[in-house]
Amino acid sequence: MKRLLVVDDDARMRRVLQILAHKIGLDCAAVSGADEALASFHAERSDVVVTDLKMPGKSGIEFLRELRAIDGEVPVVVLTAHGTVATAVEAMKLGAVDYLQKPFDVDALELVIRRALDLFRFRLENRFLREQAGGHPRSGELIGGSPAMLLIFELLREVAPTRSAVLVTGETGTGKELVARAIHELSPRKDKLFVPLNCTAIPSELLESELFGHVRGAFSGAQTDRVGKFQAADDGTLFLDEIGDMDVRLQAKLLRVLQEKVVEPLGTNRRIPIDVRIVSSTNRDLETAMREGKFREDLYFRLNVFHVKLPPLRERKEDVAELAEAFLAGFARDLGKPGLRLAPEAVALLEAYAWPGNIRELRNLTERAAVLCRGGIVGSSFVRSLLPADVEPRATDLDLERALGDLERRMILDALAATGDDKLAAAKLLGIGERTLWTKLKKHAI
Ligand SMILES: Nc1ncnc2c1ncn2[C@@H]1O[C@H](COP(=O)(O)OP(=O)(O)OP(=O)(O)O)[C@@H](O)[C@H]1O
Ligand SMILES: [Mg+2]
Repeated sequence: MKRLLVVDDDARMRRVLQILAHKIGLDCAAVSGADEALASFHAERSDVVVTDLKMPGKSGIEFLRELRAIDGEVPVVVLTAHGTVATAVEAMKLGAVDYLQKPFDVDALELVIRRALDLFRFRLENRFLREQAGGHPRSGELIGGSPAMLLIFELLREVAPTRSAVLVTGETGTGKELVARAIHELSPRKDKLFVPLNCTAIPSELLESELFGHVRGAFSGAQTDRVGKFQAADDGTLFLDEIGDMDVRLQAKLLRVLQEKVVEPLGTNRRIPIDVRIVSSTNRDLETAMREGKFREDLYFRLNVFHVKLPPLRERKEDVAELAEAFLAGFARDLGKPGLRLAPEAVALLEAYAWPGNIRELRNLTERAAVLCRGGIVGSSFVRSLLPADVEPRATDLDLERALGDLERRMILDALAATGDDKLAAAKLLGIGERTLWTKLKKHAI
């Protein structure tokens, strides 16, 4: 049985979701806060997660961030109060697949949960296929022909073969990790390991042992020996993701290891020589962090021998079409929907959008489009329905058709909810013919 995890401090909401889960045939765990939810997820993975954003203690965003460190794929639907769309967008950046504004009706929620489960199944199958093929994910290739990206490719080709440290910066979803992997792949170390370590996700005491390793009994909780990431990455590449979040005390230790090229696992006085290439990344402004005393200057200069600065997608709109088409083709192939294409007007819409979540957001959107699209062409109204609907229109983006489309979609969902999914009754309620309703359902992918 598939499992739904509900995180909401409102007991009534948990109850509603439990009833809904039962109706859809899902096993349901409902908890009132983020920590409990993470513990529950650790104990037993869920197939889909629904979380409130505003909760006492950790917020939904913090929860999502920590959840993503454990599981990058489980689909998450967020529930937001009215008027907190910015937070919802933030959640989408962290890979939430959908969001609903409270108050919502149960049918809309059911629809969203069903879609999220579809997406999850697709992702699992996709991963399975990939593993069977023994290949790298097809997304592993860097795409982009914009002048900014061409310069970056040139820099990568020069820098990758050296053993110099590289710092990769850029907003969330701009491809920092992909670039780090490309540096490894283009280097003579490519047959050795690329070892990523996310410095945010792990409490600082644990991060230290993750980095340097420990022996049994080195601290309470160290029940077995553990090889550190530095040792694992010996002769290969260590990718320190979100380095800006590392605490200053640990930064000092890291600096020493980088200078001496020797690690000492915790609880030992063994000194193990290592040869590791360091690529690090951050979406923080390290210069500010240094001024505030939160990031060591000497470490910064060690890590930042070369700097790769990835521009946000909105500054390289030329890449949007190419990226969207490549992603769509990949997903379509995996789904057995070859030939699925984007209509030119749909591409224009994508190019006009600001992509706060950058390439990740674009990739997620094309994934949803591929899974949900019924015909052979992804049209503009469909794409519009997939773009965050409630983002404030900018003065330059007063798109009447889009606004009306959103309104129409919501009214149809409301009508269906009010009539228990009875199409004929819903059409009556909306004052349109049943046939027109069917056309519109198709248009909105309802
Ligand atoms: N130039 C590109 N071509 C193709 N795919 C890309 C490109 N850049 C990023 N992607 C894809 O976008 C997604 C996000 O990229 P990645 O994880 O590298 O971003 P990031 O900068 O590390 O984000 P974050 O700061 O949130 O960790 C990944 O699925 C990645 O494969
Ligand atoms: Mg990253």
